[in-house]
Amino acid sequence: MDAKGRDFVRRVAIGAGVLALAAVAVAAQPGGDESARVEQARQTVQLLGQELRSALTEALRAGGPTAAIGVCRIRAPEGAATVSARTGRKVGRTSLRYRNPANAPDPWERQVLASFEARLASGEPPGRLEHHAVVDRGGRRVFRYMKAIPTRKMCLVCHGEALDPLLAARLDEVYPGDRARGFRVGELRGAFTVEWVLE
Ligand code: HEC
Repeated sequence: MDAKGRDFVRRVAIGAGVLALAAVAVAAQPGGDESARVEQARQTVQLLGQELRSALTEALRAGGPTAAIGVCRIRAPEGAATVSARTGRKVGRTSLRYRNPANAPDPWERQVLASFEARLASGEPPGRLEHHAVVDRGGRRVFRYMKAIPTRKMCLVCHGEALDPLLAARLDEVYPGDRARGFRVGELRGAFTVEWVLE
């Protein structure tokens, strides 16, 4: 990992450490309050989202889009793993039109993403789209949360309609089945997804 990578992981780790402390406080509450869980989930995705965006902006400025591919490809899972390790919550990104098959949605996530699309189509602002539920998984109660990720202008370099040919060639190489192109500003690029076992 290079110096910027270490710096990124350190910042995410500090943020995640703060969240882990808050999580202990939530766990200490009898019954585990639902709105507190939602708040924890929100903070978890906010932390990852902010760090990813600033790492992307910096990388785009420093090395251009081809170099910045590494930020999405390496920093995103790295940051997600760091947050997960520190907080005990699994966090990641998913999409109906994913670039990396490792980010493909599971059936619950697919349903939520489809409902986000419907809510967006009926006029709800993309920044407000979130959903949570407690699901049963093999007899264990799991808290799940998703928050939509709207497509911003800066995302179009790598997810838009007209990609730079060199960048497109590089993406073809790394992601042969890439579905994450052709997006427009305001469309849903995907969602953050968080979960943790309640007991
Ligand atoms: C420099 C190129 C680049 C830019 C700019 C970029 N991305 Fe990505 N994005 C990628 C790559 C590469 C992946 C695949 C990451 C992986 O392998 O997990 C990806 C994956 C994703 C994923 C995970 C789902 C999937 O498709 O695999 C989401 C969500 C996402 N990007 C959102 C965004 C958003 C939102 C922005 C703008 C704020 C953005 N990206 C800007 C290159 C980029």
